[in-house]
Amino acid sequence: MSKAKEVYSSEKCATVTTYVSAKDKIKDPSITEKYYDLVTDFFEAGWGKSFHFAPQRMGEKMQDAMLRYEIKVAEALQLKPSMKVLDVGCGVAGPMRNIAQYSGANIVGLNINAYQIKKAKEYIQKSHLENICSLYEGNFMDTKLPAASFDAVYAIEATPHAPDKTKCFKEVHRLLKPGGCFAGYEYCLLDNYDENNRDHCQIMEDLEHGGGLQKISSMKAVQQAFLDAGFKVLEIGNSCTEGCSWALPLRTGFRRSKFGRFCTDVMIRVLEGVGIAPKGSTKVGDFLNLGADAFVEAEKRGIFTPSLFFLVQKN
Ligand SMILES: C[S@@+](CC[C@H](N)C(=O)[O-])C[C@H]1O[C@@H](n2cnc3c(N)ncnc32)[C@H](O)[C@@H]1O
Repeated sequence: MSKAKEVYSSEKCATVTTYVSAKDKIKDPSITEKYYDLVTDFFEAGWGKSFHFAPQRMGEKMQDAMLRYEIKVAEALQLKPSMKVLDVGCGVAGPMRNIAQYSGANIVGLNINAYQIKKAKEYIQKSHLENICSLYEGNFMDTKLPAASFDAVYAIEATPHAPDKTKCFKEVHRLLKPGGCFAGYEYCLLDNYDENNRDHCQIMEDLEHGGGLQKISSMKAVQQAFLDAGFKVLEIGNSCTEGCSWALPLRTGFRRSKFGRFCTDVMIRVLEGVGIAPKGSTKVGDFLNLGADAFVEAEKRGIFTPSLFFLVQKN
């Protein structure tokens, strides 16, 4: 039985219930771990091996935009073969394999989720990258890795899961050699967000729940967390510029249309009913759809971006 099936089925179906009822609460890292047990197969089926957004230019293909987004991080950190690099929250090693292939750097993928680590290992082997890519199961709040052991660190849409951003960034700061840089993408609220607007609050609540995220903060608060962790901020800003859209894959294509979604929903219900899809699949599909709608709405209203690019340095 695959790990995913094992997680969904029998008594472990409680995982879905635990996650669904964790709404509104500050989630400890074990909830994030459960979240990725539930959604990893869905993400791979719908998104591919890299689990992040990427602002798409007019006419640009999603996969090209994703690769461009990842390479921007490699270039900002000036990654090269002699460097030892940490990928914080590496998913199933989608970005890691692309960045390793592009730069030749030696990359360690850190991930709290054992199921993703197992998948990442397989994909690294299939790509023959074992000589430069390795994995480490751990929590980015307290990795237990030795201090000053990396030349550079990056995190692509992983630290929005941190229950305490400053503490997480302090841990990255500890792991970096002096002068080393940390780059990547964070999530943040934009100026249009109004905390007194009930629609805005509901959209963000659904987005956070659907994405397994902690409370999203403002750009200023993210910047302050870097400063409080001891970093010098070299660059920070929304990389989704005029004319680009990061939510395009969530609002286009047959599977995202009302009819396409209806068909998928019926199919999952039937497969779950006859025991082919694991128990709980329908509920997972439901909260992912809730999150997807909230992401689309957040882009439409200009209240949120998942594309806050940062480059910070340890003195
Ligand atoms: C949105 S996914 C991004 C994955 C990857 N960076 C990518 O772009 O494909 C967030 C990742 O962060 C990892 N993560 C979340 N909380 C973590 C924690 N406390 N410690 C380590 N990894 C964590 C998740 O398991 C997941 O792999």
